Amino acid sequence: MSVLIAPSMLSCDFARLADELAAIDRAGADWIHLDVMDGHFVPNITFGPPVIKAMRPHTPKVFDVHLMIDPVDPFLTAFADAGADVISVHVEAGRHVHRTLQAIRGLGRKAGVVLNPGTPEGAIAYLLDSVDLVLLMTVNPGFGGQAFIPAVVEKVRRVKAMIGDRPIHIEIDGGVTPETAPALVAAGADVLVAGTAVFKGGTEAAYAANMEAIRTAAGAPR
Ligand code: DX5
Ligand code: ZN
Repeated sequence: MSVLIAPSMLSCDFARLADELAAIDRAGADWIHLDVMDGHFVPNITFGPPVIKAMRPHTPKVFDVHLMIDPVDPFLTAFADAGADVISVHVEAGRHVHRTLQAIRGLGRKAGVVLNPGTPEGAIAYLLDSVDLVLLMTVNPGFGGQAFIPAVVEKVRRVKAMIGDRPIHIEIDGGVTPETAPALVAAGADVLVAGTAVFKGGTEAAYAANMEAIRTAAGAPR
């Protein structure tokens, strides 16, 4: 199975958002990871549906929208209308995650469920038939550039076993680098989010080289 790289736009130059999207697209991004933060579920604020809608014409690639907001349900339609392809919600946000996942699929979008580093994998045992993706956080959500939490590698292995033969992606978010990627992929991850490690260097050539370094390290060169 080939590994997909999903650069997190959180680490790009927001003043040049359209150019950065075009550059990361040409540099070979598979998906575009968009981090939505509300200053309530996480201690940071980023952007919402209007900004995602403005980004949408600048690349045809999958918009992988990571919602770090609580409540979630009142905003799902707005994110779907803005152009989200995958909508992922934290199991720690809201009281009725199963209902939320059904609502996402009802909007015709792929549904993802996210686990913070401290949340045990058992929390999603009864959600696996309702999701297209499980996102495991390898940092506490809120900021780019944080240190990778190695204990989550074992959780990747356990989630992979829980998933069995269901067609569900395992995505990793936080501190992904050429150094941390190999163990994650070996444990079963197939989508790697990376912000700092992809956008360092600030040029399209650097982005391409940075993504290739992660792919090569993960044992899945394109
Ligand atoms: C953190 C976000 C991540 C973040 C990853 O809350 O969900 O997507 O941008 O950044 P790096 O790759 O720098 O850890
Ligand atoms: Zn994220």
